[in-house]
Amino acid sequence: MRLLLAWCAAMLIAAPAFAQAPDPNRTPPHLDPNRTPNGLAQTPPMGWNSWNKFGCNVNEATVRGVADAMISSGMRDAGYLYVVVDDCWHGPRDAEGNISADPERFPSGMHALGDYIHARGLKFGIYSDAGRSTCGGRPGSQGHEYQDARTYAAWGVDYLKYDWCATGTRNAEEAYALMADALRASGRDIVLSICEWGGNQPWLWAANIGNMWRTTGDIYDHWDGVDRWMHGVMDIVDRNEPLWSYAGPGHWNDADMLEVGNGGMTDSEYRAHFSLWAMMASPLIAGNDIAGMSAATREILTNREVIAVDQDRLGIQGRRVWRDGGREVWVRPLSGGARAVLLLNRGDAPAEIAVDWDHLGLPPALHARVRDLWAHRDVGRARGRYAATVQPHAVVMLRMQP
Ligand code: GLA
Repeated sequence: MRLLLAWCAAMLIAAPAFAQAPDPNRTPPHLDPNRTPNGLAQTPPMGWNSWNKFGCNVNEATVRGVADAMISSGMRDAGYLYVVVDDCWHGPRDAEGNISADPERFPSGMHALGDYIHARGLKFGIYSDAGRSTCGGRPGSQGHEYQDARTYAAWGVDYLKYDWCATGTRNAEEAYALMADALRASGRDIVLSICEWGGNQPWLWAANIGNMWRTTGDIYDHWDGVDRWMHGVMDIVDRNEPLWSYAGPGHWNDADMLEVGNGGMTDSEYRAHFSLWAMMASPLIAGNDIAGMSAATREILTNREVIAVDQDRLGIQGRRVWRDGGREVWVRPLSGGARAVLLLNRGDAPAEIAVDWDHLGLPPALHARVRDLWAHRDVGRARGRYAATVQPHAVVMLRMQP
């Protein structure tokens, strides 16, 4: 009897643990009727990020130099606004748990860096991670979400890239929703860039949580291929393209930061990379050394006709409508009844590629004005079909206006 009583008492003491068990009727954040988008990023965000070129070797002098070069190179005027410091800016947390900047790399602190960026008419982006530590081993935001969001707001941060390293068994949707709520509670407009690499299919739940979500592992400066967690441009394209229907104003499929100008591809391949990102309505976040870029790189990144496709206000992601071996036709509907068309040649020899009015959803007898967005010239009126010879690993990008 005594044993039975002891057992009952133990169960009673244990009861609160049962009371905390997950509620099966809990509404996941994306189904919560009270959750609304933050209203930012009505077109895909454009800017620069330190990671692809500088990795962990980033400091305030480099970022200030890039901010200056964003103006002198014409990048800001072409639409690139966010200057984002990626991983490795962090110092330790203080006794109260407040995050600080690495005192050697960022001796003036992040507030001063934000001021420098804002004084140039640009916006300030920063990086953190939903786990205990970032991918570069710096302190993550897990358990400090509200505190970090308040700190970022006080520093004048406009954009947070939020990574997924060291997250253990965390639920991705809950973790990103928690930071989204913290950013909103900070009272400052902060774009949330979800960097979860696609493993938890953020396109299914993130539209009201963040403004963009990575769909793959990291890009590397190669035309094609996969190396551990890294993907070449063609590989990313094939993974990102089928997700076209999930993108729209305020919530974009992020095909990752650009490699244009980093040296691993030809200029023709970089033009194809840039054109495909614009067709896919991906954020355009340059990842090269803006202060030291060549004229050819600048011309690619500041091609306003291609940027206008990326930034089209309808926000419909383009997609592949035809392929035969390495020859592909892509179409993206634009405002005003126009269509962006991409003829892509993945092959190793020049090839003729044609777009049919069928692909465009146009009646075959309709005339359309055709403009070549890399040659910057009108190439006439066409009806029913338009064909061009496309060089290897290259594109012809057109705007068709019926
Ligand atoms: C991950 C991200 C990259 C970059 C690094 C930084 O790999 O996907 O874009 O932010 O972390 O460590």
